Amino acid sequence: MEPHHYDRGMRLLERLSLERLRRGLLREARGAVLELGTGTGANLPLYGRDVQVTAIDVRPGHLAAAGRKARRAGMAATVVCANAQDLPYADAAFDTVVGTLVFCSIDRPEAALAEVRRVLRPDGRLLLLEHVRGLTPWSRRLTDWLHPLWFALQGECRLNRETAATVAAAGFHLDHTASHGRGLLQIIRATPIAEPHRP
Ligand SMILES: C[S@@+](CC[C@H](N)C(=O)[O-])C[C@H]1O[C@@H](n2cnc3c(N)ncnc32)[C@H](O)[C@@H]1O
Repeated sequence: MEPHHYDRGMRLLERLSLERLRRGLLREARGAVLELGTGTGANLPLYGRDVQVTAIDVRPGHLAAAGRKARRAGMAATVVCANAQDLPYADAAFDTVVGTLVFCSIDRPEAALAEVRRVLRPDGRLLLLEHVRGLTPWSRRLTDWLHPLWFALQGECRLNRETAATVAAAGFHLDHTASHGRGLLQIIRATPIAEPHRP
């Protein structure tokens, strides 16, 4: 999808609730921040000025739009074409990893979360805002029912991922989760569980 089509398609949702949820979450980002799947850069103007943001995506066209958005907002973000499943960064390089509406799109979320765990400092935080498999009975039925058609039409976004469970299974403690958007969106705040000490 062209970057301007994505932005236009998202405009109403951003006004209704997404931008407010993004702002609230991004306020918690600290220090060196890695943003996964930044897309057209919706988050970049919303960070505080005291963080150093590296924003990655696999789509060069989206990254170019993200870079323009950051510059217009006076935000000095570094945008890099990279895959979340194979991050080109050293161990413990980041204080915060952010993802918004991205774990629906990553082919192998388990691989990406293993990489997040590797590049995150032991006292770092993972901050996610994701659309997920419905968190209420009706929204679960809706996402399960719509998912096959939706995925067949656009081939990337899964409507029924249980991202919080995947994050926990990848070795993170779920510090806080909150349901929004009538059970279709979830904010997830997580920290890496310390590896057992091996003598
Ligand atoms: C639905 S868009 C969300 C964009 C943005 N985070 C937002 O909140 O609007 C998902 C983005 O994830 C990117 N993506 C998908 N798989 C990825 C991967 N393995 N590594 C990095 N980015 C990926 C896509 O290219 C796309 O730009």
